[in-house]
Amino acid sequence: MSSFHFAILGLGKIARKFAHDLSLIEGAKLVAVGSRSQERARAFAEDFGAEYAAGSYETTFDGPRVDAVYIATPHISHQELTVMCLEKGVPVLCEKPLGLNLREVERMVSVARERGVYLMEALWTRFLPSTLKIKELIDSGAIGQLEGVRSDFGFLAPAATSGDFSRNRILNPELGGGALLDIGIYPQFLAQFLLGAPREVHARGRLTERGVDIDTTVTGLHAGGKLSHSYSTLLGGTKTEALIMGSEARIHWHPRWHESGAFSILRSWDSPPENHYFDFGEANGYRYEAEAVMADVRAGRTENADWSLEDSLNLHRTLTEVRKQIGVKYPGE
Ligand SMILES: NC(=O)c1ccc[n+]([C@@H]2O[C@H](COP(=O)([O-])OP(=O)(O)OC[C@H]3O[C@@H](n4cnc5c(N)ncnc54)[C@H](OP(=O)(O)O)[C@@H]3O)[C@@H](O)[C@H]2O)c1
Repeated sequence: MSSFHFAILGLGKIARKFAHDLSLIEGAKLVAVGSRSQERARAFAEDFGAEYAAGSYETTFDGPRVDAVYIATPHISHQELTVMCLEKGVPVLCEKPLGLNLREVERMVSVARERGVYLMEALWTRFLPSTLKIKELIDSGAIGQLEGVRSDFGFLAPAATSGDFSRNRILNPELGGGALLDIGIYPQFLAQFLLGAPREVHARGRLTERGVDIDTTVTGLHAGGKLSHSYSTLLGGTKTEALIMGSEARIHWHPRWHESGAFSILRSWDSPPENHYFDFGEANGYRYEAEAVMADVRAGRTENADWSLEDSLNLHRTLTEVRKQIGVKYPGE
């Protein structure tokens, strides 16, 4: 089988981690990188052995054949760049959040479907071996009936308490900043993945002076009256763990759950935990989503069965509703 050619657009922090993981996958090859700066593209290409370095996103596809592109720019450009790639017929793995809001995600999905070109949101947690095992255990009745989910994700964004929000993508409204879209998306993903899309959400948030959320809590009401509790904050580190409640046992997904290979099944307060541990080796955990893209595209599929476009639409319906309730609006919305 010939090697699978990846390109990357936007050569920041996450792009480096993803490129590292690609280098661990047999049959995957990073062939082209695109940056707003020719110099950055050249340096990145050198670091990761890509043969083609483009000084603009548009010209990234003028070199060797590209089988799929990974878009790793700030949220605000996901829609535009994804549509550009889909219109060139290039399969896309786009960083989370897929779009800034539901309207953008709907447009991206409709372009992908009209053109019959592959698109997936890079919800990498969905593809971790620990996630697959947890789902398998729940489906096999290992914790009894699933009753609810609680999870959090928090860290201190350096500028969150200093009032200087301009230096940081995460707090910059012009770049789609805020806790919800950056990290709160993970607890919402988990709630939806396990309990289905919520029928209602009730959200409260604290916003910066520039109107992005730094502290957000969401209660989701799901089928059967089941509840999810999600918390995301940029005010400080939280445990970033998940508790999945069943009628007979709980699953404690260890910190930081969204990237963790470790979880325990807790049957009662006085019985020892049943520990599960998955070692990702040298990988950061992004290799699994990349492998999913490779398998899909090679098989001629236009979306992924485990994190489908319908899943992304549902997730972004929730996120957009949460933002409406807490009052976060980005420029141009
Ligand atoms: N899956 C995960 O675990 C994970 C983790 C972190 C972030 N993310 C997602 O990945 C995306 C990028 O995050 P990041 O932390 O890698 O950000 P970052 O370090 O700021 O890098 C983003 C890159 O995008 C490009 N870019 C294009 N327009 C830009 C603009 N107006 N301002 C700044 N950069 C711009 C830049 O690359 P060039 O200059 O080379 O064009 C920049 O280096 C976000 O959507 C975020 O949600 C995902």
